[in-house]
Amino acid sequence: MSHENQVELKQNTLITFPALFGLYRDNFLPKDVRIVGYARTKMDSVEFHKRATQYIKGSDNEETAAKIEEFKKISTYVSGSYEDAESFQTLEKHLREIESAYKGSERHRIFYLALPPSVFIPVAANVKQNNYSTDGVNRIIVEKPFGKDLPSSRELLSALKQHWSEDETFRIDHYLGKEMVKNILVLRFANVALSAPWDKNSVSNVQITFKEPFGTEGRGGYFDEFGIIRDILQNHLLQVLSIIAMERPVSFAAEDIRDEKVKVLRAIPPIEPSDTLLGQYVAANGKPGYLDDDTVPHNSTCPTFAATTLWINNPRWEGVPFVLKAGKALNEAKVEVRIQFKDVTQGIFKDISRNELVIRIQPSEAIYLKLNTKTPGLYTRALPAEMDLTYKRRFAEVKIPEAYEALILDAIQGDHSNFVRDDELDVAWKIFTPILHWIEGRSGPRPIPLKYPYGSRGPKELGAFIDKYGFKRSTEGYMWPVTNVS
Ligand code: BG6
Repeated sequence: MSHENQVELKQNTLITFPALFGLYRDNFLPKDVRIVGYARTKMDSVEFHKRATQYIKGSDNEETAAKIEEFKKISTYVSGSYEDAESFQTLEKHLREIESAYKGSERHRIFYLALPPSVFIPVAANVKQNNYSTDGVNRIIVEKPFGKDLPSSRELLSALKQHWSEDETFRIDHYLGKEMVKNILVLRFANVALSAPWDKNSVSNVQITFKEPFGTEGRGGYFDEFGIIRDILQNHLLQVLSIIAMERPVSFAAEDIRDEKVKVLRAIPPIEPSDTLLGQYVAANGKPGYLDDDTVPHNSTCPTFAATTLWINNPRWEGVPFVLKAGKALNEAKVEVRIQFKDVTQGIFKDISRNELVIRIQPSEAIYLKLNTKTPGLYTRALPAEMDLTYKRRFAEVKIPEAYEALILDAIQGDHSNFVRDDELDVAWKIFTPILHWIEGRSGPRPIPLKYPYGSRGPKELGAFIDKYGFKRSTEGYMWPVTNVS
């Protein structure tokens, strides 16, 4: 199986179908909804249902198992090519048969294209020509990669626009469906205590960090074409940055939010090589290095780790470094935003820790504010401690939805707020394209990434890199104590 097909299969069986099931189980799908899978693989419905439901969690629970059986009844499958119209006509016949069982004249269709980039445009065109409902709303959901740089993204965008309007298009960045990312807007704009110090006068630096404890095992061939910057920074982390940095939107309407995101992104100049640190993992602790993967070219200089600093040229953020860091094969799984405030005026205190607001996106969603407090007891020394909102403790009864559940529901409801608009994508590529071309050796010799051992914190040079942007570690060996609430 090709790498592209592996990615496609993983996306559908591991993510899309479990998310659809989650919505179905919790009664969020419209009553008459039907789900139709379409791909090249020929298989009967037993095999399709097996694949579609194999990664649904909790299937050993009786109630969930019964729901899965119901879910199978609303899901069918058609196999066909991605290129020829005839196959899409067969799909159309199948859709009409299903729809004919329902009274009423509206036939809304959402097409979810979790597909390899090579077949993306022919499928979008074929679906439009053969499967577009004339009696209802049509929407298309698309997944990254949206090109590889500014020119290729523009090409893809305009090819898609020939068939689908912006209003019909829902570009997924699944980080926008994560609960804590969605919370940033509320946290920022519903709290005077947080809005007031949210600027260059109070904030020293912002770090947005993505750490994964596993390498590119099994998808090295795919990854090597893209690298960590396209995989994580240019989309997921930049999206988080835009919500952290944007101005208050006029309303929560999708276009008001997206207007502000685009505005702040447009104030960010392209990243400089001098603001970049690249790494690639090597074998350690019995784990293979990136280059040990047979599907990766033996001399690949593709970064599996990157730290880049972005600057925002607007009055709120001028001079505040936003450091984006992401890496594969690191020491832990963690995604967080860390807003580090400036030093308190010196004089009565010496060497006290800085305030930090940490938004823990995953795992174990939390928001905590590091504060200095008097050491309890007969001392007057300041001690760093925290005000801690750990979700599993504070909202113990609440089930946090998966990102894809939230986004599919938004698409069903026609809400674009958490999807990437065309101009947003364009400006994201403008920021990253020069550095990507530099990494690919288009403007000189390719930079050689620093080595770091599998399972480590990244290249050892990272500490000095972050210090360069004014980051200061807490005193007294501070550690956030609530990392593992289960
Ligand atoms: C995907 C990347 O977009 O996000 C993967 O292609 C990465 O490489 C994944 O593993 C991370 O998503 P999450 O939701 O597990 O943080």
